[in-house]
Amino acid sequence: MNLTELNKVATAMVAPGKGILAADESSGTIKKRFDAIGVESTEENRRDYREMLFRAKDAMSQYISGVILYDETIWQNAKDGTPLVKLIEQSGAIPGIKVDEGTQGLPMCPGETVTVGLDKLAERLKKYYERGARFAKWRAVIDIGSGIPSMTAISVNAHALARYAALCQAAQIVPIVEPEVLMDGDHDIERCYEVTERVLNKTFQELRVQRVALEGMVLKPNMAIAGKKCAKQASVEQVAEKTIRLLKACVPAAVPGIAFLSGGQSDEEATAHLNAMHKLGPLPWGLTFSYGRALQAAPQKAWSGRPENVAAGQRAFSHRARMNGLASKGEWQSSLEQKAA
Ligand code: 13P
Repeated sequence: MNLTELNKVATAMVAPGKGILAADESSGTIKKRFDAIGVESTEENRRDYREMLFRAKDAMSQYISGVILYDETIWQNAKDGTPLVKLIEQSGAIPGIKVDEGTQGLPMCPGETVTVGLDKLAERLKKYYERGARFAKWRAVIDIGSGIPSMTAISVNAHALARYAALCQAAQIVPIVEPEVLMDGDHDIERCYEVTERVLNKTFQELRVQRVALEGMVLKPNMAIAGKKCAKQASVEQVAEKTIRLLKACVPAAVPGIAFLSGGQSDEEATAHLNAMHKLGPLPWGLTFSYGRALQAAPQKAWSGRPENVAAGQRAFSHRARMNGLASKGEWQSSLEQKAA
C-alpha cells in the first residue's frame, strides 16, 4: 500500500470548492427516481441520464472532485463508445465505485440491518482499480426508533465498514467510510447527535483495530439534524454548530476529509448547512458534499428522459454543483439561488 498516494487522492476528493457526485444509485433506487419523473428504468435510459451528467463540462471540471458509480455504470460506454469512466477522467474528476451489496436484516435485532458484500471484495476491488476507480464507498445504515439502534447493530456495521476500508487500502483504493444515521424518524436533533456520536466512536475504534490508515480515507457522515417527522426542526445555525461540535469530538484530524450525504434534506437545506459549517472554521479536515439526491433531483426533473432536455438538465446540475461548491468554501448566499431561478 502506498499511503502517500492514497492521501493525495483523499485530499483531492475534498479540495476546497469541489465535492463528490454520488451517482451510485442501485438499480432499485434509480428506478424509484425515474418513476418520479415518468421515465422507464432501462439500461439505456440509465446510461443516457448519467452520460448527460458526466458531460456537463462546467460542473464536472469546476465543482466535482469525484463521482461514485454503481457497478453497471462503471462498465458502460457513452453513446459514442467512450467508456463513461473516461468521460469522468477527461473532466478532471476521479472515478469511484460503490462496492457494498446493500443491507440484510440483522438476526435477533428486529428492524435493524447489516451491510453485506465483503465476500470476494478483494477480487472485485482489483477489477475496479484496473477500470480506473481510485476510491470506493460502503454505506452502513443505522435507523433511530423506539429501542433502536442496538449496540449490536452499531458494532457489526462498524466492523464491516473497517473490514471494507482495510481491503480498499490494500488494493490502493481510498475508502469512503459511510455510517449513515437515517433522518427518517420523529427524533429531535439531540437524539441524532447522541446516536451519531456512538456510531462514529465505534466506527473509528474498529478502523484503528483493523489498522486502517486514517490519512488515506474519507468519512461520509450524516449531519446532526432532527428527523423529518420531528415537530421541532432545528435552524440552519443549530445544525451547523452541533454537527461541527460532533465531528470535532469524534473525527481525528488525521482524516483528510469529510464529505456529507444529503439524506433527504432539500437541495437548498443541504447547501445552506454545509455553508454555515464553514462559517465556524477553521476546521481540522476538508469539509464538503457527497450528495446524491441534493445534486440530482433538479437535473432529473429538468431532463425527464427527453433528449431535447439534455442542455436544461446539465444547466440544473451545474447550478446545484456550483451552489454546493461555493458552500464548501462558505461563500454561498441564498440570493444566488433566486438569481438563477
Ligand atoms: P443522498 O445524498 O441522496 O443521501 O445520497 C448520498 C449517498 O451516497 C447515500 O449513500
